[in-house]
Amino acid sequence: MVAASLGLRMSNNSNTDLAALMAFIAQLSDPLGILGRNWTVGTPFCHWVGVSCSRHQQRVIAVELPDVPLQGELSPHIGNLSFLSVLNLSNTCLTGSVPDDIGRLHRLKILDLGHNDMSGGVPATIGNLTRLVVLDVEFNSLSGPIPG
Ligand SMILES: *[C@@H]1O[C@H](CO)[C@@H](O)[C@H](O)[C@H]1NC(C)=O
Ligand SMILES: *[C@@H]1O[C@H](CO)[C@@H](O)[C@H](O)[C@H]1NC(C)=O
Ligand SMILES: *[C@@H]1O[C@H](CO)[C@@H](O)[C@H](O)[C@H]1NC(C)=O
Ligand SMILES: *[C@@H]1O[C@H](CO)[C@@H](O)[C@H](O)[C@H]1NC(C)=O
Ligand SMILES: *[C@@H]1O[C@H](CO)[C@@H](O)[C@H](O)[C@H]1NC(C)=O
Repeated sequence: MVAASLGLRMSNNSNTDLAALMAFIAQLSDPLGILGRNWTVGTPFCHWVGVSCSRHQQRVIAVELPDVPLQGELSPHIGNLSFLSVLNLSNTCLTGSVPDDIGRLHRLKILDLGHNDMSGGVPATIGNLTRLVVLDVEFNSLSGPIPG
């Protein structure tokens, strides 16, 4: 019984995505309460504002919250959204650095972190994202080269 419940918690499935989204929002303050209304465990996360899922597996494929003031740092746990293809957090008042874990999002095609106040460099792990077609980090204080 213990092994079965541990297996459930640790397997890589939609629970992984739920935990990652909860960790993501836990780092942010959401002063307008835009996510607070439905980013709650009472609502299936595929119906949360800004979240899109694959139809069959119910895995997160897009997180799009441009222009929502979120204020805070981007959680490294975002890297656990293994099926993520689009991440658009443009103009969301993000600070801090771009986490290395972004480089674990192997299906990522679009990454927009533009118009925020992030600093540091673009992590070298971005070079692992072989499917990336759009990378926007404009209007941040990011320095250094964009890793290829
Ligand atoms: C993300 O994955 C890592 C490695 O598998 C794990 O240690 C961590 O607890 C996960 N984060 C969340 C929020 O589940
Ligand atoms: C979540 O909130 C958005 C706007 O904040 C709303 O359009 C949407 O219908 C809500 N979804 C659910 C499932 O309540
Ligand atoms: C992100 O969303 C904003 C606002 O809708 C849009 O203008 C921008 O083009 C999007 N970024 C990408 C890379 O599609
Ligand atoms: C989930 O599985 C995929 C494919 O096997 C893997 O690439 C990814 O790193 C795993 N994610 C986590 C958080 O363990
Ligand atoms: C990801 O990128 C880092 C830094 O460039 C590199 O050290 C690492 O081996 C790469 N990992 C994979 C799985 O490609």
